[in-house]
Amino acid sequence: MTNPPDLSHLLPSFTGAKYWRSGTVPVFARGEGCYLWDHAGNKYLDTLAGLFVVQIGHGRTDIAKAMSEQAEQLAFFPSWSATTPITLEAASSITDLAPGDLDSVFFVSSGSEANESAIKFARQYHRANGEPTKTGVIARMDAYHGTSMGALSATGLKPIRDPFLPLLPGFSHVPNTLGFSDGVEAARVVEEEILRRGPEQVGMVIAEPVQNGGGSLVPQVGYWRELRRICDRYGVLLVADEVICGFGRLGAWFGSEVVDAEPDMITFAKGATSGYAPIGGLLVRRPLVEKVLDSAAGSFLHGATWGGHPVVMAAAVSNLTAMREERVIENVTRHASLFEERLHDLEGTHDAVMDVRGTGYLYALALGHSREEGREYSEEEAKRAVYEVLPPLALEAGLHLRVDDRGGAKIMLSPPLVATTTELDEITQGVSQVLDRLAASF
Ligand SMILES: Cc1ncc(COP(=O)(O)O)c(C=O)c1O
Repeated sequence: MTNPPDLSHLLPSFTGAKYWRSGTVPVFARGEGCYLWDHAGNKYLDTLAGLFVVQIGHGRTDIAKAMSEQAEQLAFFPSWSATTPITLEAASSITDLAPGDLDSVFFVSSGSEANESAIKFARQYHRANGEPTKTGVIARMDAYHGTSMGALSATGLKPIRDPFLPLLPGFSHVPNTLGFSDGVEAARVVEEEILRRGPEQVGMVIAEPVQNGGGSLVPQVGYWRELRRICDRYGVLLVADEVICGFGRLGAWFGSEVVDAEPDMITFAKGATSGYAPIGGLLVRRPLVEKVLDSAAGSFLHGATWGGHPVVMAAAVSNLTAMREERVIENVTRHASLFEERLHDLEGTHDAVMDVRGTGYLYALALGHSREEGREYSEEEAKRAVYEVLPPLALEAGLHLRVDDRGGAKIMLSPPLVATTTELDEITQGVSQVLDRLAASF
């Protein structure tokens, strides 16, 4: 028998104290492909790719080797008055994949920092344009953009914002696309907000191609075209937060391509290295970069010691090479309709599934008492489902599964992008077992 691990010295991220203290949280020790093994040797299917991260799958020795070779050659030098060959290689690999003229990349180490960088770049750009009052940011309700104070100010989730008030001034939130039937109409709330605040006060709009917070909200056709028109009209920069949607999650290198978005900036993180090393980044359209570099400031006045870290860059280059050579994006497009079908089958056989939303390899199952009778969970019941009932049921079913109570109880599914029919079938069978037992618990 393995001794139970001592969790008492670790303060975890966003994990309910009751669950953490229960001593039943898994301690994952090893991974391979779509599977994880805990410290005691129990096997689980990773239905969340870690945390929307591990596109290429766990346990890749080629990526580990590329990182180790880079560490031996030159483990560290910042992209600060100098840079390194591997950093340049990563920059060109990523900008080659990026849509349109987003051909300049600024590296950081997380999604929050990427969004922080976008907020600061927008301010500097408008100042360079002689419009220093355009500092405001419009984001959407229920969206998660990160935890640092700028990114948290953009985040539209009350329970994680309110404990930290006051946040930065100048941020406001408009309804997301849920509940609209028309893309142009859904985008109109952004135009109304720009006009309410005054276009001279608004510098950027930030949105995910498919919003994860609120449960994989796929925009209506025409939404992003209309956002582009609105932003052009009022001189506002359009930012696509692709921290989740980027690097294949929706079945294309960038989610912007899937939803017909033409952003001025893209923020990314997670999937760029498939989690083999922490990365974040900001992609910016070339003319905007030139404007800032040619301004009185003479540089982007922002930086990070770890930005463009050579070992991280080696992980990115190796991961993107493997994704290209092994046709990982094609794997997603080939299996996406099967995944969708299986999830709709689950909806058909389980009355507790209120809705199935998503695209590519990013889905949410909204949960409640009964779809047929239109009976939702109360807020209390959603919390009980998410924090007490579902976690042990998922582990019993051999799944690492994400459940979320923000905007109603939900199961989020985002498997590694190398998942094929076998793993997708296993996910649906496992979730089916979880749903049977969930229904019995209420
Ligand atoms: C859409 C989105 N933006 C930003 C972030 C913040 O990323 P990080 O946790 O790397 O700071 C996340 C994290 O999950 C995210 O989902």
